[in-house]
Amino acid sequence: MFAQSTLSGSKAEQYAQLLEQARGLMHGEHDRTANAANLSSLVFHALPDLNWVGFYFFDGKELVVGPFQGHPACVRIAIGRGVCGTAAATRQTQRVPDVDAFPGHIPCDSASRSELVVPLYAGDTLVGVFDLDSPVLDRFDADDQAGLEAIAAAFIQSLQPA
Ligand code: SME
Repeated sequence: MFAQSTLSGSKAEQYAQLLEQARGLMHGEHDRTANAANLSSLVFHALPDLNWVGFYFFDGKELVVGPFQGHPACVRIAIGRGVCGTAAATRQTQRVPDVDAFPGHIPCDSASRSELVVPLYAGDTLVGVFDLDSPVLDRFDADDQAGLEAIAAAFIQSLQPA
């Protein structure tokens, strides 16, 4: 059984601990659905003020919702649309302090006020995006972005065959 330990110390230290927990959960496992499901649960329960944490995967045409924690979400998002589609199209993490001020934001959960979306690329191949929503305005700072990008990178690494 995986026992999730409480994070402590500075924010950077907490993200280092969370990354280690994520690596531990994915150790020896290459299945995309399994690792995405466990990561969604790990992050959702470890970090405060989140109402949605999960994955959208690229099906060759658009983004399709994958494993997540939170309320049911929009199923398909076109590349270039919304915060998720913008992250996929630009290959840049989208850190949105106020979703109502983001042109084209796709409201899935009306509680969401701010959002962070990390694009997932294996080399030049789009895998999908890692999406976090918060009911708090301006929830995500640069430390959150760096910590969650590191977890996203560990997820991409976990998909490579040993
Ligand atoms: N708000 C996202 C859609 C996904 S939900 O937040 C889960 C967007 O604008 O792409």
